[in-house]
Amino acid sequence: MTVVHITGARPNFPKAAPVLAALARLGVEQRLVHTGQHYDDRMSEIFFQELDLPRPDVNLGVGSGSHASQTAAVMVALEKLFTGEPPELVVVYGDVNSTVAAALVCAKIGVPLAHVEAGLRSFDPTMPEEVNRKVTDALSELAFVTSPEAIGHLAREGVPDDRIHLVGNPMIDTLLTHLDRFEPGPAQEAHGLTGRYAVATLHRPGNVDSDAQARTLVQAMHKCADLMPILVPLHPRGRTRLLELGFADHPDIRVVDPLGYVEFMSLVRGAEAVLTDSGGVQEETTVLGVPCLTLRPSTERPATITHGTNRLVRADTLPAELAQIADRGRPSSWPVPPLWDGQAGPRIAAIVSSWLTDRSAPASV
Ligand code: UD1
Ligand code: UDP
Repeated sequence: MTVVHITGARPNFPKAAPVLAALARLGVEQRLVHTGQHYDDRMSEIFFQELDLPRPDVNLGVGSGSHASQTAAVMVALEKLFTGEPPELVVVYGDVNSTVAAALVCAKIGVPLAHVEAGLRSFDPTMPEEVNRKVTDALSELAFVTSPEAIGHLAREGVPDDRIHLVGNPMIDTLLTHLDRFEPGPAQEAHGLTGRYAVATLHRPGNVDSDAQARTLVQAMHKCADLMPILVPLHPRGRTRLLELGFADHPDIRVVDPLGYVEFMSLVRGAEAVLTDSGGVQEETTVLGVPCLTLRPSTERPATITHGTNRLVRADTLPAELAQIADRGRPSSWPVPPLWDGQAGPRIAAIVSSWLTDRSAPASV
């Protein structure tokens, strides 16, 4: 009987690492499953080399596909894996298809589920992640939340109080653990960046899945690159479309492959600004105090705006927003959301460990 962690996509790995490490320190028996949702070395393997993550015990190798086929492939493989030896608890992370697939399997075979990063809501039903979050939360026995507003979201959806635990942000545990390794200088040199520069990441379907939206974005990014060079570690999703639309045709747009965690965070740390549609990057820039312009109409991480350096922007206002940041420079001080202190992993581990103890205790008569 073990705790089984389900990971599969890039954002899962830095969230899972501190939870696995903290549970290991408490002597909890655990296994790590990789669904194979992300499989390129730079989307997966490099995180296992760089973070303190054990090798996966199992890789389900599901790969890419439509939402239904990818989710179904994870479900079929996990159901098979769990048959005969059901875990005592399954821990899922974030809001990717692997997360919701595991949640559905657990609900159907009666395995309790813990959701790390529960209760985030963008209130945008067109985001596949919003569906994944709501379904996963509805099926979770333990909901670990990163910020206080998530408690209200879960309560309004009928999740009982005693299932909800405000624990802080494990993504930030990983950032703080490796902070000393983030050295902007050598990373900038490796990419030929000499003065101030921005880092950009783009992969949301709403931004890169249609020609019309992607074209608008390319034009906006070119105007931004007139202000300063932009390094773009480009996600595989949308890569072909963006490049066909001439994204890399500006001399100061530097498109590179996805970067390893340490190199990426080093470049973010030294950047004048970050332009992104990523979830995790909004949080990381908040803690590093790097101005972040988020190319989305909404965010499920409002604490990065109220307590951080994040602003939501449209493509047409992006160049003006970047120009303002260039004028103002980086903030000398900034707030950070409560409990984003590097201790989320130990808090989660303590709660899981006492949950396991309570469960194995003989029922009183
Ligand atoms: C997924 C998550 C998204 C998260 C993102 C993080 C879902 C619904 N979406 O989006 O929430 O922000 O990961 O990076 O789970 N591909 C490769 N190599 C890989 C992986 C993917 O080339 O290693 C390409 C394939 O063409 C694939 C496409 O990227 O079809 C999209 O991959 P997928 O995992 O379906 O969704 P993401 O866009 O990566
Ligand atoms: N990241 C990285 N290299 C990159 C881009 C991102 O190491 O080139 C890391 C970074 O820590 C980020 C995490 O991967 O927070 C997840 O990123 P992604 O934007 O893919 O996922 P999201 O948070 O949007 O779901």
